[in-house]
Amino acid sequence: MGIDISRSIFSGFHRLSLEERCARVAAELGLSDAELAALTGEEGLGAEKAYSMVENALGFFSLPLGLGLHLRVNGRAYVAPMVIEEASVIAAVSFAAKLVGSAGGFIAEAEPSLMVGQIQLTRYGDPESARASILAARSELLDLANALQPQLVRRGGGAKDLEVRLLDAPEGPLGEPLLVVHFHVDTQEAMGANLINTMMEGVAPRIEALTGGRVFLRILSNLADRRLARSRCVIPEALLADYGLPGADIAEGIVQASRFAQADPYRAATHNKGIMNGIDAIALATGQDWRAIEAGAHAYAARTGRYGPLSTWTREDGNLVGEIELPLALGTVGGPLLVHPGVKAAFKVLGHPGVRELACLFASVGLAQNLAAVRALGSVGIQKGHMALHARSVAVSAGTPPEWVETVAARLVQQGEVKVDRARRVLGELKGGVLPFVSPHNEDT
Ligand code: MEV
Repeated sequence: MGIDISRSIFSGFHRLSLEERCARVAAELGLSDAELAALTGEEGLGAEKAYSMVENALGFFSLPLGLGLHLRVNGRAYVAPMVIEEASVIAAVSFAAKLVGSAGGFIAEAEPSLMVGQIQLTRYGDPESARASILAARSELLDLANALQPQLVRRGGGAKDLEVRLLDAPEGPLGEPLLVVHFHVDTQEAMGANLINTMMEGVAPRIEALTGGRVFLRILSNLADRRLARSRCVIPEALLADYGLPGADIAEGIVQASRFAQADPYRAATHNKGIMNGIDAIALATGQDWRAIEAGAHAYAARTGRYGPLSTWTREDGNLVGEIELPLALGTVGGPLLVHPGVKAAFKVLGHPGVRELACLFASVGLAQNLAAVRALGSVGIQKGHMALHARSVAVSAGTPPEWVETVAARLVQQGEVKVDRARRVLGELKGGVLPFVSPHNEDT
């Protein structure tokens, strides 16, 4: 369950100093000093733990951690820890989440944690006989796999089914067709890679014995297409009015962006990159295997044989409707969760969600991120739209007092250079009375 935070608690958060933000987060989310220190990076992964995680270890590598705000998913409010080096992403997701929140928030669902384990069998003789021998031993093979993960089975998970797939040989008709056994494993709260790999290696000898064939690969598949998460939002078009444009114009631009991504893989790749900006950032903060998430997302995007967008936008009865669907193989147990204090603190910030609730949040973060991008792209352009959001946080980072943040931000966008150095210079000019106040477009991230 996420912490039910009234959105107003975090309004104006970006205008606070770093110290004020920390104090507010700790107070509102009930974080201990140690948990706060873990989030800020003051107390990171200790050398001993880090050096036991990778080989040839030398040290640590830091990235900024920020909070995605105003997320409301299935009626619950979330503050999302996000780790990312790219400017604008956190401001953009917070802005879009606030917009969607004002229209009731995201409605999301996630399937149970069914993952696929693969075994590649070769030199099996007649394909149909090999397939029949494996299917005839279905129960025995599932029992064997489950005997290797008794704890998972006790928690209600384990290998639930298997299928035998015969695939055309890449060399053409003269090559041996590929025989691939798929085990469908419910990994419960785990991402599942280790569980499944152990199972696949354990059952492979029995498959060889049953068929007289030879097994080569035994590994999970990252195309987790039985572990899909979906999120949806419905926004009355009037709420989209911005940049001096009516909501219907902004909605039209967003739908055109969606059509572009549906028709053109070149655009779909960028569209999905924007989605993954948000998903990767929350994945990093929560210690997920983000390479697995990326691999699954892009393989799923190409499932029809043509790479397409993970989200679509349509106009229905005066509303803009956004939908996203993608595989999300996440875990709330094991791996970095056991060792990384920052990851543990991130889970506390999220209210210790279960794995399916977490997937609902990830999908919604992806959709919000996408909304922010296509909203700007389909209207004023990404530099003006997206960067306006970023400019404010740059102005704050440069030490701009709250009453001058909007002015400095607007000036940075106007000058086309959204950097802390430039913000300091603008601030100096402002203080010296060189620059007049402007009344910028107002977006509260
Ligand atoms: C930049 O990191 C992401 C975008 O290019 C996404 C998109 O084009 O939809 C803005």
